[in-house]
Order: sequence, then C-alpha cells, then structure tokens
Amino acid sequence: MAKSPSTLEDDLFTLRLSRSARDLWPMLEGLYGTHPDYAAFKDRLLAALRKAARDRSPDLRRLDLQRDLEPDWFQRPDMAGYVFYIDRFAGTLKGVLDKLDYLENLGITYVHLMPCLKPRPGDSDGGYSVMDYRAINPDYGTMADFEAVTAALRARGMSVCIDLVLNHTAKEHAWAKKAAKGDETYQDYYLMYDSADLPEQYERTLVEVFPDNAPGNFTHYPDFGKWVWTTFNEHQWDLNWANPQVFLEIVEIMLYLANRGVDVVRLDAVAFMWKRMGTRCQSEPEVHMLLRALRACSRIAAPAMIHLEEAIVAPAEMLPYLGRGRHDGREGNLAYHNSLMVQFWSSLATRDTRLMTHVLASHFPEVLTNATYATYLRCHDDIGWAVTDEDAATMAMSGQAHRNFLSDFYEGTFPGTFARGALFQENPETGDKRISGTLASLAGLEKAVADGDAQGIDWAVQRILMGHALIAAFGGIPLIYMGDEVALLNDDGYRDVPEHAHDSRWIHRPRMDWAAVRERGDHSPAARVYQGLRHILARRKVTDALHAGYATRIIRHDVPGLFALARLAPTGAMVCLFNFTESWMNVPEGLVRGAGASLMYDALSDNTVQLHAGAVVLPPYGRVWLS
Ligand code: GLC
Ligand code: GLC
Repeated sequence: MAKSPSTLEDDLFTLRLSRSARDLWPMLEGLYGTHPDYAAFKDRLLAALRKAARDRSPDLRRLDLQRDLEPDWFQRPDMAGYVFYIDRFAGTLKGVLDKLDYLENLGITYVHLMPCLKPRPGDSDGGYSVMDYRAINPDYGTMADFEAVTAALRARGMSVCIDLVLNHTAKEHAWAKKAAKGDETYQDYYLMYDSADLPEQYERTLVEVFPDNAPGNFTHYPDFGKWVWTTFNEHQWDLNWANPQVFLEIVEIMLYLANRGVDVVRLDAVAFMWKRMGTRCQSEPEVHMLLRALRACSRIAAPAMIHLEEAIVAPAEMLPYLGRGRHDGREGNLAYHNSLMVQFWSSLATRDTRLMTHVLASHFPEVLTNATYATYLRCHDDIGWAVTDEDAATMAMSGQAHRNFLSDFYEGTFPGTFARGALFQENPETGDKRISGTLASLAGLEKAVADGDAQGIDWAVQRILMGHALIAAFGGIPLIYMGDEVALLNDDGYRDVPEHAHDSRWIHRPRMDWAAVRERGDHSPAARVYQGLRHILARRKVTDALHAGYATRIIRHDVPGLFALARLAPTGAMVCLFNFTESWMNVPEGLVRGAGASLMYDALSDNTVQLHAGAVVLPPYGRVWLS
C-alpha cells in the first residue's frame, strides 16, 4: 500500500535525524551533559526540530529534497554572490524586487542581504546589534516582504543569505531587558558578574576588537549592579552558550528563519562564542562542537539551508570552521577566505607574490570535505593585516614592519602608493592598524582619477579585474560587494552621520550609485569594470573545472610577481596565472605544462594562447585560465 504523504515526511525526518545523530547528541552531551536540565533540554530540542520540519512550506520541502540529492549545489561554478545593505542598494525590500534583473544580468546567483533583522535604535553596528530575531528591520519592510523576496529569488534559482548574530544580542533584546530587571533566568542567558574580579582576570588574556570606541570587554551597569561581557560594543551583550537554553532559543530562531526561505545563514563572529579563563576566548574547542551541533539541526529540519561561518582569524585557526580536523566535513559549509583577501592586497602592494604563494601553499589543504570558501577581495568590514610573524620571517621580513607597511600603503601615506583608504581602530598598544576602503579606491582608481592619470586608471581597472578573475577561479563562491561592480569610490559622507562618524568602515559602505550604472559610457572605468566582471562570471559559469569540489593546488615557481594555481579537475588541470605587476611578464611554457595544461586554451578569454619564444606572455595585471 502506498504511504500517505504525512508518513513519508515523518520517515524523512527520522532518516535525517539518524543521519546527523553523531553530529548532534555527542556534541550536546559534551557541552551540556552535566547540566541539571539536560534530559528535558534534549526533549525540547527534538520537539523544536520536529516542529520546524513540519512547518516547512511545500516549496522548501522540495528544495530540501533537491539539495539532499545534489549536495554540491553550492560548490558549482554557476554560484556567484552579491552582498548589499537593503537600504543602500534598493531602499526597501520591495525595492529589491525591482533590482533582480540587474543582479541576474551581472551573473549573480546568491545574494547576501546585510543585517536585516530588527536592530536596536540608533547605532546598531551596521545592524549587528539585534533586538528581535523574528522581525525585519521596519525601515526595510515586514517579514511578509522578506518572504516575497526569498520566494522571488528562489523562483529565479537564486539563493538568499542573511546574518544570524550568535555571539551577542542588543541590550534592548527582550532577554536582555528582563536580565537588566533582575530576572535570573535571563541573566543566565548572558555573562554577568557581581564584581569586577572575574572580568579583570579574563581581561588579562583578552584582545580588544574595537579599542578606539569600545575599549575593554566588559561593561559595568551600576543601575542593576552587574558587569556584563561586551566583546564588541557596549550595546552588544555576549550570550552565555554554556546555558543549553541559549542553544535551544537560537536553534528555534535559526529554523524559523530557514522556514522564511533563507538558503545560507551567515553565523556572525562565531570565534567568540565560548569563554575560557586564561585564553583569548576565541576559537575554543567548544565553539566547534556548538557549530557542528547547530549544523546538524539545520540538516535535520531544514536541509536546504547551509552555514557560512564568519571567523576572521589566522589560517590554522580558520580551517576547523570548515570542518578540518576533529570535525572533518561536518561543521561549516562556507567560511571566508580571509588569507586570500589579505594576500591579494599584500602582493599588489609589494608586486611580490612569494609570501602569498608560501601562505596559501603551506597552510591550506588542496580540498575540503563538504565545504568551500567564500572568496572575496573586500567586505563590509575593515581589512586586518593577518600576516603572522612566522610567515613573514620565511621571507626574511619582520611581521610588524610588513603589517605597518600595508597599513601605510593602503591608507595612502606610503610614498608612491596607488591606494586611498582610511585607518580603522589603530591600537597603539599592539601597533595594530586596520584599513577601510572600497575595492576601487584601494586598487588605485580614486587617486588616478584625482591625478588625471590615464595610465593609473587603466592599471586600477586591471587590478580590479585581475582580483575578480582570481576569486572566481580559486575555488569557492566569489562574493562581490555592492558597488564594486561599477568601481564605486570611497564615501567620506559617513563622517557627517552621527552614528557612523566613529566607524571608518562606513567609508566603503556607500549608497548604490544608480546614475553611475545608467550613465556609464562605453569606456568609463565603471563600464570597463562592470563588463569585465560580467564576462568573468559568465566564463566561470561554463568552466566545469572551477567546481569547488576539485582540488586547488598552489604552484611554487620562481617568476617574480606571478601567482599561479592549478584546479585539478578529473578531466584535466586548469592552470590559472595572475600577473601582480604593471610590467609584461613571460611565464615559461614548461611551468604551465608541468602544472598540467597542455592545450593552451584560455577559458577566461575563450581563446587559444599563442606562445612567444617558449613563454605565455601576460600583460600588466594579466590573467589566464589555461587548460
Ligand atoms: C561581525 C560583523 C561586523 C560586526 C561584528 C560584531 O564580525 O562582520 O561588522 O561589527 O560581527 O557583530
Ligand atoms: C575582527 C573580528 C571580526 C569583526 C571585525 C570588525 O576582525 O574578528 O569578528 O567583525 O573585527 O571589523
């Protein structure tokens, strides 16, 4: 007898539960096993998973099946992401609907709507200080508008990513307000202390994320007599993940959002979720247990949704977020490739790719299991010069000196620099200086335009396109940050906005310049960048070798200023070459053949490359994808 659909759904739930059992229960046992409410907590969690699975719409259930059948969907070369603030890009969520043709035309298949849940009023750290996870920011629209957007994107085969801030809530969140009124149940949702003793002990080994405007990691509230853990800003209260109730609440929220049509949930600032005295309280082993368990919850109740983990940390610390090590293949599906981004800028400034080659070849595996990178040239945050002293030393450089050089270069103060940027959070104690700026301004366009330097403008455009060709080929989902496709320059206007003036990251969060889109002539820098990027994404889409499941091998060589990698597709290698200098470059044929390319067909230009005197010749900032 044929099964009724409801029993089939129940069967599926049971099968998915058993598929993920080893990712869920042992993690929870390790995290919460000794908690007095542990048994009841497990029952409530199971009920929450079951309820979320039942609440999924027919559309989303179909997507669950499809993605269970095609688990590499997010690794395919047709994936290309675009990241924007709803208000700055389109005004409101309804406005976003009018921009879908624009995005599709550019080749975008994934959009990240920057923080869109209801933030606290006033300064909300760009929306990362959330007071209600089940409501949309009223300035952007309603939950119904949000669902209309996710449905419209789904109908076009496009995915939606939104932020879920896990480390903290706004102090205006209902939980925080109850905690501040003295409700002990809710005080246990946060990390609150009666005296300064413990905070002072923790502080000895903690770092400061925002030393300029939010020094220290704790805030004292005399009105209710507590010291509260506030890693980021005073209004962002860190959650107590050692409390299983917090886990349960967040799972319910996460699946509620999944059921509104979210495909990718970007888990914000995950490194900070677990605290241990005597450590930096970043990337503790429990963080990975939590993330593995959260991922299991999604796979059980909303398998179409995947997890992007935001951990902007050094390579060795970052890889476990992609499941390397103890949790191989079972943690994040995506994580930002911060090192690739930093090394791109470092090589552009020095015209020397040796450090980049060393770092990417020695610290990263060639393949990841069930996961891939989010590749990007910049994002809404600052660039921190994550070059370790050890890596710098292998190039006979001082780490501190190189990091200082990069800051000066991209701030625009180093003699001969092409860049224009702004400092972010200079920390005199550590010498740490981070940088803000748009892709185009950091790559040289702003200065070249101001100087009326036609050659400089051309090089800036080529740097931008070389970077895009790199993140499109590296392996992962390339993310384009709003406005970079039309080379928007730094926006100094943030200085006049009271809640933004203290935060130079707003210099690279401009409003979309639709006039620039409409009025770009055929040869303006904006038009060249737009057409060039569109071409790169179109070529990526038809180049099977760029599937993120295939290995990425960094090629060591001795051609100065060249960065080379091979994508090891089963049908043959694709050798990608990038010239990081403003000189012509000869790449010996032997190097290219040795790395596995024999046809000398360039998939990027869709042409066969002619060799000259036994070399592939690259123009300034030239790039090829050779098979
Ligand atoms: C994330 C966001 C950043 C924010 C921080 C605190 O790292 O990318 O913009 O300031 O978290 O939520
Ligand atoms: C640091 C943190 C990251 C945060 C960013 C703010 O990179 O690691 O989580 O978003 O600073 O700009």
